[in-house]
Amino acid sequence: MAPPPVVDIHTHLYPPPYLTLLSSRTSIPLVRTFPSSPHPRLILLETELPALELALRDPSAPLPGRPLTPAFTSIGEKLSFMAVHGITTSVMSLANPWLDFLGPAEAAAMAREVDGAFEEMCAAQKGKDRKLYFFAAPPLTAGIPALLEYLSELAGKYKHCRGIILGTSGLGLGLDDTSLLPIFHKLAALNLPVFLHPHYGLPPSVFGPRAETGEYGHVLPLALGFPMETTVAVARMYLAGVFDAVPALRMILAHSGGTLPFLAGRIESCVRHDGKLMGSGKKRGRTVWEVLREQVYLDAVVYSEVGLRAAVEASGVERLMFGTDHPFFPPVGEEEGAEVWDSVKLNVEAVEKALGKGSEEAGMVMGGNAARVLRLFDEEE
Ligand code: URA
Ligand code: ZN
Repeated sequence: MAPPPVVDIHTHLYPPPYLTLLSSRTSIPLVRTFPSSPHPRLILLETELPALELALRDPSAPLPGRPLTPAFTSIGEKLSFMAVHGITTSVMSLANPWLDFLGPAEAAAMAREVDGAFEEMCAAQKGKDRKLYFFAAPPLTAGIPALLEYLSELAGKYKHCRGIILGTSGLGLGLDDTSLLPIFHKLAALNLPVFLHPHYGLPPSVFGPRAETGEYGHVLPLALGFPMETTVAVARMYLAGVFDAVPALRMILAHSGGTLPFLAGRIESCVRHDGKLMGSGKKRGRTVWEVLREQVYLDAVVYSEVGLRAAVEASGVERLMFGTDHPFFPPVGEEEGAEVWDSVKLNVEAVEKALGKGSEEAGMVMGGNAARVLRLFDEEE
């Protein structure tokens, strides 16, 4: 009997055309080489700007961003990573900030190049043990008609596309912007889920004034800013009634929904006790809890048993899907270069501790749910 699939639904890659673009840019996101660094540096986040400016002025300053290792760009590296960690199937996505920063014409052309490159990589696995699929990167800035057309063409053009990846900015006004409703209706009609992923974090000022030494690397923006960004985006969609307006929309939330499993009760209570909302006479739609169990899926990229249990309680074990966030969070320090990534181990152990190693429920989270929800292995090979 074939072993059960292990599916990684949160795993990124920058295909060659996107990398060429980043290497040609002078503002973030960008790729820069520094004489003291063996790898080019990838600078993505606003919080990395001060370090970039310092490093450009002073060659002895700490390097900005993160090393752009082959893991970010090479499909061979992705497949080796999968083999080392026992991952049978990956659903890849372009890493942040996707095509958000491009003008309309550029975005549409780059979307075609990026998604075409992903499809080729997936198709090349035909007949091989490890399978690849992808979430497409739609040209958000291209305007609604072009976007609708792009989405309509996805299924016909790309056999291995299983949804889209989306940031929280939408068309610039967030995901509760009513202009996005036709897009959500289209995605629902096409049965394409949205993989919602953060990029913008929180404004650095949220973390408070600090002495220059107190930047703490990427910890504040990634550990706190990213999950709050996702939480805010989905809370706004909920409050705007997007889920009730498009009941067939399916959202897969990165990082186990940010802080949603923990804060859903508080959001629900704040809604119920808000005089303005409750006094408006408008009929209330479903509760936050209902939406979480009916339209939301969560990845299992939460790194702890406690977080994983909360995610299971909030959305149901049949709605949770394993992920790694590869190639982010590689081994560093003394562990640098280690074959097995601690970040992956933490997520596997969280599933095993919360649901029981080898249990039916652990199998669902590790791959069974993704196979069902994303219709993997359906296509004729
Ligand atoms: N940092 C990023 O910029 N993106 C991720 O997906 C993870 C970490
Ligand atoms: Zn990610």
